[in-house]
Parts: sequence; C-alpha cells; structure tokens
Amino acid sequence: MVSASSRSLSSLLALPVLAFFSLSASALPRPRTASSTAALKLAVRINSYGIKNIAAADRARAEVLQAGGSSSINATNSGVIYTADIGVGSPATYYTLLVDTGSSNTWIGVNKAYEKTATSKDTGNKFFVSYGEWRHLDGNSMSGEEYTDTVTLNSDLVIDNQSIGVIPWDSMVQGPDGILGVGPVDLTQDTVTNTFEVPTVTNNLYKQGTISSEVLGVFFAPASSNDTGGELTFGSYDASKITGDINYVPITSTSPACRYWGIDQSIRYGSDTILDETAGIVDTGTTLIYIAADAFLTYQYATGGILDEESGLLKISSEQYQQLSSLYFTTGGVTYELTPNAQIWPRSLNSYIHGTADGIYLVVSSLENRSGSGLDFINGYCFLERFYSVYDTTNSRVGFATTEYTYATTN
Ligand SMILES: *[C@@H]1O[C@H](CO)[C@@H](O)[C@H](O)[C@H]1NC(C)=O
Ligand SMILES: *[C@@H]1O[C@H](CO)[C@@H](O)[C@H](O)[C@H]1NC(C)=O
Ligand SMILES: *[C@@H]1O[C@H](CO)[C@@H](O)[C@H](O)[C@H]1NC(C)=O
Ligand SMILES: *[C@@H]1O[C@H](CO)[C@@H](O)[C@H](O)[C@H]1NC(C)=O
Repeated sequence: MVSASSRSLSSLLALPVLAFFSLSASALPRPRTASSTAALKLAVRINSYGIKNIAAADRARAEVLQAGGSSSINATNSGVIYTADIGVGSPATYYTLLVDTGSSNTWIGVNKAYEKTATSKDTGNKFFVSYGEWRHLDGNSMSGEEYTDTVTLNSDLVIDNQSIGVIPWDSMVQGPDGILGVGPVDLTQDTVTNTFEVPTVTNNLYKQGTISSEVLGVFFAPASSNDTGGELTFGSYDASKITGDINYVPITSTSPACRYWGIDQSIRYGSDTILDETAGIVDTGTTLIYIAADAFLTYQYATGGILDEESGLLKISSEQYQQLSSLYFTTGGVTYELTPNAQIWPRSLNSYIHGTADGIYLVVSSLENRSGSGLDFINGYCFLERFYSVYDTTNSRVGFATTEYTYATTN
C-alpha cells in the first residue's frame, strides 16, 4: 500500500545537533505593533539518549497530568522533542529550550550556565520544576532561583521582565538547556515561592502589546519527512501551513483535562466506536497518542496488534497493516482522519524504539485508567504532526487544521 521512507538513519542522526533559529528578519527591525505576529522556527530531534520505552515515559507524564499536576518534559526519555533557541539577557545568550504545551514555566541553566547581564534581576524567590512525577507527592523535583530578564524569541518577539527559573548548571541532566513553557498559566501555580501565578511568555507578549491575542499556532512535520521546520507562531496561526480552515473547539469543562489544553472528543476506528465523546488533552510533550484502557483494548482487538515488550507498543504484521482502517477523531463537530500510515511509528526510526528493522509498531497506546477519569485521551506529537494546532487563551479554545502532511505516507 505504501512504501517505507528510504531515508537513511545516518541523515536522521545528523538532525539532533542542528537546533536552528530564524534570523532572517533581524536585519529589518520592524515596529512591534499590536497586530504583529511572528513565527519561531523549531528544530526536531529524534531522541538519541537511549529511549528504552517511550510508552513508559509518556505514561509517567500522563499519570502526573491525570492527577492534575504539572510535569515538564523529561528530555532524556521523550521520543521526539522540538527545541527552539531562545535568547535571555541583553546582550542575549542563546539557550536551546524544549517547547512544551503541557507545562508553563520557562527555565534554563541545565547544560549552559545563566549569563547575567544588566537586565537580569534576582527576585529572591525559589523556583521548582517537577519531572515525570508529581513533586508534591514524592519531592522528585529540581529547584533553582527565579529571575526576571529580557527574553528574545526572535527579533519581533522580545519580552521584558519575563520570569525565568534558573537551575544550577552542574545538575546531571542531559539534553537541552531547559524548557519554554507555553501551556496555560494555571500550571504555574505553586512553582515559585511568594507567587500565585507566573505570567507565561505568551501572557507577557500580550500584556506588553507585542501580540494582539493570546494565541499560539503549532506546526510540526512528521519526523520521517524531510521537513525539519516545525514552527511556533505567537499571536495567530500560519496560514501557509494549513490546507483547510481552522476549526475550533472550546476548552472542556471536565477536570482534570480542563487544566490543560483539554477538549471533548470521540474516536472511531473505521465505523467502530473506540471512545464515546469524553474529555482529554492535546499535548506537544507526549510522543504517542493515548486512549483510555478500555478504548485501547477495543483498538487492540480491531487491529490485531500484540503488545511488544521491547518497545512497549502494539506490533502488527504487514498483512494486518494492509487491513488497517483509519481512526476518526471528532471534536467540535469536525472529524479528523488519522490514516493507517499515521498510526504507525516511522519505520526508518524503529531502532529508536528498540524495534526490529522491518517491524510495524502502532503509535496508539493505553492510559492506565479506564474511560471516565476526566482525562481519557492524549493527542500527542504523533497526532500533531498530521494536524496544525492552535492554542487560544483569549477565547478558551483549541483549533485544528489539515496540513500537507495529514495524508503523508512517509512512516
Ligand atoms: C529522566 O528519565 C530518565 C530515564 O527514565 C531518568 O533516569 C532520569 O532520572 C529522569 N530525569 C529526571 C530529572 O527525572
Ligand atoms: C515583572 O515580573 C515579575 C514576575 O513575573 C512580576 O512579579 C512583576 O510585577 C513584573 N513587573 C512589572 C513592572 O511588570
Ligand atoms: C528525503 O530526502 C532524501 C534525500 O534527498 C530522499 O532520498 C528521500 O526520498 C526523501 N524522503 C522523503 C520522505 O521525502
Ligand atoms: C487512575 O488509576 C489510579 C490507579 O491505577 C487511581 O489511583 C486513580 O485515582 C485513577 N484516576 C482517576 C482520575 O480515576
């Protein structure tokens, strides 16, 4: 039905180091008007830090989110991460930060020490970040100092007085230098001492008049495509990246999904219902697509997949792949088709999940809880690389649109 990408692994391995930053507009200083929107280029990295089991890593994050907590991406074990180079201080030092819609603080310092300049101000407050486990439950967190400083996303997007967490650089964590948190502001509660909520970069861009609405557009291309140009657009969405209209759906009222970018959605496999309309979230920090345990069993039965111990994913034969139906995600009255090819892990990247070279692994995985938990699905990266997504704080809604990759067969 489709052929595997002929792309060699060595060219993929070359991607990780190439975090790049668009400087094309820097020679043409533009006025920071309230109508300006600006895009920030993202670099994709297929994790090469030895992913043992991305499903397990994602699930650890899912547990925190289901408990209503805030969990930063653990760059060590996420399957696919997107980074952006962000300037801090004046003159700016650039840090490679993970972009995360499931947490909302911005922090630096892990691999590159914070360079203080005249714009750096120590607030005297302490900052905490939790990783994969809810820090209130087990204290598995890192802490540092809160500063405010000038943060440069690109030449059009410069933020004054942005709160940043600064982690001591000698910590043992591998990977990017920190996180650019673009989730809802509520997730910053209890992260900084003496502070109720910490304004996010998006909040401050709006408050400082740089963008006219608190909207973030996110474009990812499949990791198996040759398009490494993921992109964040602040203040709007990038019309050049979508092939239809953006359709919006209100943030769900169901807890705990309503704390995040939560929506109500139903899922069909072919004509079979997998999940009746229920609440869940959209999350750039989760690699796979997750559905409640009972829905997953229905999906497993329908596809014939067998749980593979090595990868933690469902594995199917090529005959079963030929028979695979599309998954249909319906939200806000619109149905989004996740094709058979979109439901499999890119075969060219099988070694990253400890898969066999010609194995076919499904990217739909199981949450621990049955449906009815208030967070019954996670539309992670494997969904978001097929659909453009828009996170609209001003109107409390999430939007989706098809892209040139919606029906791509590169996996
Ligand atoms: C991130 O995950 C790795 C692998 O599971 C683990 O060894 C490491 O301790 C985690 N990092 C943090 C900061 O929790
Ligand atoms: C600067 O940011 C800090 C931390 O977010 C905030 O408490 C303070 O009110 C801000 N100051 C101004 C002048 O906006
Ligand atoms: C990616 O680029 C390589 C080299 O140019 C080419 O051989 C391959 O077919 C491309 N893959 C896709 C999915 O476009
Ligand atoms: C999910 O399941 C765990 C046990 O596996 C339970 O402790 C937790 O309360 C459940 N969460 C919800 C929201 O039902």
